[in-house]
Amino acid sequence: MTRNYDVIVWGASGFTGKLVTAYLASEQTASNLKWAVAGRNVEKVRQTLGDYDIPIIQADSEAQASIEALVQQTRVMLTTVGPYARYGSGLVAACAAHGTHYCDLTGEVHWMREMISAHQARAVASGARLVHTCGFDSIPSDMGVYFLQQQMLAKHGVPAQQIKFRLRGTSGGVSGGTIDSMMAMVEKAREDKTILKQLADPYVLNDSSRGTDGPERMSAFFDEDFDSWVGPFVMAGVNTKVVRRSNELLAHQYGTDFQYSEGTLTRRGAGGFLGATGLGVGSGAVAALVSLGPTRSLLQKVLPKPGEGPSEDAINNGYFQIELLGKHPSDASKNMRVEVRGDKDPGYGSTAKMIAESALALAQDDLTVGGGFWTPASALGDSLLRRLPQSAGVTFEVLEG
Ligand SMILES: NC(=O)c1ccc[n+]([C@@H]2O[C@H](COP(=O)([O-])OP(=O)(O)OC[C@H]3O[C@@H](n4cnc5c(N)ncnc54)[C@H](OP(=O)(O)O)[C@@H]3O)[C@@H](O)[C@H]2O)c1
Repeated sequence: MTRNYDVIVWGASGFTGKLVTAYLASEQTASNLKWAVAGRNVEKVRQTLGDYDIPIIQADSEAQASIEALVQQTRVMLTTVGPYARYGSGLVAACAAHGTHYCDLTGEVHWMREMISAHQARAVASGARLVHTCGFDSIPSDMGVYFLQQQMLAKHGVPAQQIKFRLRGTSGGVSGGTIDSMMAMVEKAREDKTILKQLADPYVLNDSSRGTDGPERMSAFFDEDFDSWVGPFVMAGVNTKVVRRSNELLAHQYGTDFQYSEGTLTRRGAGGFLGATGLGVGSGAVAALVSLGPTRSLLQKVLPKPGEGPSEDAINNGYFQIELLGKHPSDASKNMRVEVRGDKDPGYGSTAKMIAESALALAQDDLTVGGGFWTPASALGDSLLRRLPQSAGVTFEVLEG
């Protein structure tokens, strides 16, 4: 079969897929790109596209033959069809088998582990580059660390031994698809206790090495380095594992004793303490509510449904601002602070641009890595450092050091 396309977007009728399609359709980013969209219901995809004239391909996760045919028509598959553990395994298997590059938005750690273990050998053999977590989880974390370490290595010749990621501010919303994925993961973890163990393992995404990081802190603490109280960050359980896998895939460019953590800054004083404590208690309460059958059903009734998400205003007026502190191994005067910023709401406006740029990098850039399961930084690091600030409104800046 001839590869007619550079990129196919699967899930174009969904909330995030629609945003990705609009981004790729904008002239400046899609020049010379041969691309198509795909979905299980062609008529629904056509209605979603409105005035855009883009080829549509039918592909349903329930019909593996349609998935096999899909991946052979393109060099890169971009998928927003989630929950990924429910709908995505056939696509990953097909991409690995047919040498089709792949990127997604999953945050389902247990599923990533399963996919890597099942298909790594085939992807290496076919040359398919597969990159999970190309959205808010985990590009700002993974690329922020990559950027900081590049700066540190260039300036001081050694990597930062420890990096602290601190969310300074954000505004955005959540979609039904994300809630569905979160609930599906909790349900799976209730059925299968090995998944709980995997989620608790800081190095579960590493293939052959471990380090000295422990589980994420779930309670409030005061961080002298930021002169502020810190509470848990909701995506830390995914991002920290991706960053540790990047270090392994980059041949431990960050060091074998590298330590990494994430948290949310509140502020100093009693207000900051209460805010940080609230984040800890809030995360615990949400986890408890989601894990109990009756409250989970109630939540499913009131929260956004698949296909729904934040308003256009919330997306366009949203943002995120993250600060990372990199600690020099022996001289605190050489510590470095960098900032990662996004100009749209993190989960949808910025995420759509980040995954689209990841797909474009896989399709158009000279990448040095071969087939296999990569992280954004390990496969696309230098490409994304150029592309994201140029086109996606995601910037990386040295603040100090
Ligand atoms: N990492 C991040 O930062 C981030 C950000 C945003 C989203 N996400 C993840 O991205 C995923 C999508 O989120 P969303 O809000 O866009 O979800 P959504 O609106 O529910 O969209 C899901 C898409 O999947 C399609 N689909 C469902 N079942 C299918 C099947 N059997 N075969 C083919 N297509 C099928 C749907 O098609 P129909 O329209 O025909 O139903 C729809 O196009 C979720 O897993 C979410 O967690 C991650």
